[in-house]
Amino acid sequence: MSSADQIRAIRWEEGQLCLLDQRQLPQREIWLKLGDYRAVAEAIRQMVVRGAPAIGIAAAYAMALAASEVSTHADWRARLRRAAEEIKAARPTAVNLAWATDRQLALAQSASTVNQAVAAVLQAAHDLLRDDIADNQRMGRYGAELLPAEGGVLTHCNTGSLATGGYGTALGVIRAGISAGKQLHIYVDETRPWLQGARLTAWELQRDGIPFHLNADSAAAHLMQQRLVHAVIVGADRIAANGDVANKIGTYSLAVLAQYHRIPFYVAAPLSTVDFAMPDGDGIVIEERPVAEVRQCGGHAVAPEGVEVRNPAFDVTPADLITAIITERGVAYPELRAALRALAEGHMQV
Ligand code: MRU
Repeated sequence: MSSADQIRAIRWEEGQLCLLDQRQLPQREIWLKLGDYRAVAEAIRQMVVRGAPAIGIAAAYAMALAASEVSTHADWRARLRRAAEEIKAARPTAVNLAWATDRQLALAQSASTVNQAVAAVLQAAHDLLRDDIADNQRMGRYGAELLPAEGGVLTHCNTGSLATGGYGTALGVIRAGISAGKQLHIYVDETRPWLQGARLTAWELQRDGIPFHLNADSAAAHLMQQRLVHAVIVGADRIAANGDVANKIGTYSLAVLAQYHRIPFYVAAPLSTVDFAMPDGDGIVIEERPVAEVRQCGGHAVAPEGVEVRNPAFDVTPADLITAIITERGVAYPELRAALRALAEGHMQV
């Protein structure tokens, strides 16, 4: 079986950013057309578009919209700097958002005229979208070699085409494994509270015809104990220089479980997700999301009214629980700090 993967959730059409509204999936496929950078920042905050690489791409297009908006002003450079700050403030944990915005800002600031800046920033957003898909396919090929020839693979959150420009990171590795003829059965954590697994990963796998079961997050330990899971693979929102990984809440507990059950625990992420300025995971800001996400399920109240809630959207998995980090340039094995640095500098580790 080969993976069909035709899902694309971000596109540029007639000067507007079109986003497939991920809040509505899988019930409805609704596209939003956004022509203003503030609307894109709000769409990121509201999770119309989510997933670290996808919000980086959306931010790159938001900068293109901002550049064209400020282009009639003499102080366009200062205005664009302020727009970049607004865009970066949309969500704090995934480094791809700040990475893409800062790259766009630097590109615009280095242009000699405002018209050149507007054109360069839009072209760079198109390039980022195109390159992300190609990088994911490359990452998929590296990662597929690590998956068993047959067996169960557990994944968390959504790391597929919806979370990226296309194909996906951890889900891209699964896609590549299936395309290479591996007999994989996927276990999809529902991923409370936002249910990225149940709503989005299940939707993608079903469209691709990849065999899977959806399970409650709390079933993961039992599935491992039953020897149904032979590898765990997840994505990342920010990887510190030492290899600590911030990813969707619940990832850390899966890594602890995988170590107890002696199951390899893989992270798949592009090098743009590595924050070399962050020495370890302690400094990573963890986004707290609205309490309603926990008080409710599927829009229905499940807790007594007024209960106090903690809703951290991410957690940090220490590097020593990670078997390997799969990137578009190869696989980093422990010691992860040196291996990630070598990949970023272009020395292959595979
Ligand atoms: O809150 P989300 O849905 O944006 O969180 C997404 C994740 O945690 C993903 O695992 C991560 O961004 C990697 S996506 C390729």
